[in-house]
Amino acid sequence: MKALNRRLGVLISGRGTNLQAIIDAISNRQLDATIGVVISNRAKADGLRRARDAGIKAIYLDHRSHGDRETYDRMLVSELQAQNVGLVCLSGFMRLLTPVFLDAFPNAVLNIHPSLLPAFPGLDAQRQAWEHGVKVTGATVHFVTADLDAGPIVSQASVPVCDDDTFDTMAARILEEEHRIYPKAIARVLDGAGIPSLG
Ligand code: GAR
Repeated sequence: MKALNRRLGVLISGRGTNLQAIIDAISNRQLDATIGVVISNRAKADGLRRARDAGIKAIYLDHRSHGDRETYDRMLVSELQAQNVGLVCLSGFMRLLTPVFLDAFPNAVLNIHPSLLPAFPGLDAQRQAWEHGVKVTGATVHFVTADLDAGPIVSQASVPVCDDDTFDTMAARILEEEHRIYPKAIARVLDGAGIPSLG
């Protein structure tokens, strides 16, 4: 797969700590990229403030005022294309994307998920893992496809669950690993690490 244009679009719904990790990796020169735009579907997402503090264009696009999913995704695509984005990074963006979106960015949408996929896809993955009593969990960066949390894996980090862990201490360690692996995975994909089966 050929290397991608290094302008990122980051989609968020909340606090944006993974967005912050990407911003920090770019400013520390660990990640050779720029963020063209950050888009949130929630007005109060703290990630919007993080983006603006870093001088990055930040947009709130309310999914409730854009009709059906396809119409909303078309709006997202047009904002991202207006900023010449080559790779889209989902960072806690809690919405499913339709083929309208995925076809506009073929093999160029990444997601970070707080479990060792394919275990515990979907919402509240850390809670699912905790309640299952797993002894090892972790974080996964994967390409986004039409199937929820099931696209090809780019990178994973494991997190052991210790006897003295609480849910919160376990979840905090998962988040630390997310922050560590996401910028590195983005760098690999920008350097041309594509979906393995597509070459
Ligand atoms: C992260 O833990 C991310 O893995 C998760 O949302 C959180 C966002 O935190 N994403 C998913 O569960 C997607 N299925 P952040 O806003 O602080 O980056």
